[in-house]
Amino acid sequence: MQVIEITAFGAPEVLQLCERPQPQLKSGEVLIKVHAAGVNRPDVFQRQGNYPVPPGASDLPGLEVAGEIVDGELGDSGFKKGDLVCALVQGGGYAEYCAAPLAQCLPVPQGLSPLQAAALPETFFTVWSNVFDRAHLAPGETLLVQGGSSGIGVTAIQIAAALGHRVFATAGSDDKCRACEELGAERGINYRTEDFEQVVKAATDGRGADVILDMVGGDYLPREIRALADDGRLVVIALLGGAKAQLDLGQVLRRRLTITGSTLRPRPVEFKAHVAKQLLDRVWPLLASGKVKPVIYKTFPLAQASQAHALMESSAHVGKIMLTLA
Ligand SMILES: NC(=O)c1ccc[n+]([C@@H]2O[C@H](COP(=O)([O-])OP(=O)(O)OC[C@H]3O[C@@H](n4cnc5c(N)ncnc54)[C@H](OP(=O)(O)O)[C@@H]3O)[C@@H](O)[C@H]2O)c1
Repeated sequence: MQVIEITAFGAPEVLQLCERPQPQLKSGEVLIKVHAAGVNRPDVFQRQGNYPVPPGASDLPGLEVAGEIVDGELGDSGFKKGDLVCALVQGGGYAEYCAAPLAQCLPVPQGLSPLQAAALPETFFTVWSNVFDRAHLAPGETLLVQGGSSGIGVTAIQIAAALGHRVFATAGSDDKCRACEELGAERGINYRTEDFEQVVKAATDGRGADVILDMVGGDYLPREIRALADDGRLVVIALLGGAKAQLDLGQVLRRRLTITGSTLRPRPVEFKAHVAKQLLDRVWPLLASGKVKPVIYKTFPLAQASQAHALMESSAHVGKIMLTLA
């Protein structure tokens, strides 16, 4: 089969089209003939040599795919061979065939194409497990999303807004802020010209956000602590601004704040199966009704994966960058 290999750690050009044998299925896995695969920032970190592959996972990049089930034990899953599914995978998505744990497969939502469905798993699993599971965003509460125009951000904004939450989102340009507002954010905050702490406090009568989804870290931490409401939760999913921060623990004590975080990829299949079930129950109906939509910025053929990575690194995009297979 044709695959994209990381031939060495480095610039996007190290991604090369190569031939590999089809993956051997492990227990509990199915083989998917891939129609489309999503590009995610962690793929860029992996290509740069900054994101080691978990033991036992494919060394090929690609954390999400959609396509046709062509092999594997389907048990009482309700799926049959030939069904179109999307799946969260531990790697190997940039390929004509990809092995996926059956428990991490979800049906292509009603009304969506396989390309659109391939844009879902990585960000929907991440957002659900962090914002709703880990940080317990509860009815009536307010969410601040850092990086609102990212693949993660557009998902967080839409799901939270569709479930009735007030959402604020930061982004690096006025155009990106408007895009966040069109997706359901009450207010896009241009972090280059505005202070998110002040904007969120002013819009909430000084209360602050109940939950902040953060992919920046670094010097955002002290400002985020101040931007949280009493009993607020900060959930860190990436450290684009650095891993070290100074913060006032007095605020954490006095205002009962929670600081947490997680990474999805190394979690076991059982955890991801639990998230898949919640997505099917709570979020797939929002996709079927059109209240939440995949936001695809640009699609490249598999062979142009290096261009897809270069685009992601330019940060010109809003939403997802995708790869398609013939
Ligand atoms: N923990 C997990 O399980 C997990 C899972 C998936 C992804 N992630 C992480 O989540 C992040 C987003 O992933 P993605 O695939 O959605 O990537 P992406 O689309 O490339 O998004 C990265 C975003 O970061 C924003 N950004 C950079 N510096 C910022 C700052 N100082 N303030 C606010 N926003 C800033 C960029 O926005 P501007 O261009 O507007 O600056 C861009 O939208 C990545 O770091 C990725 O590694 C974590």
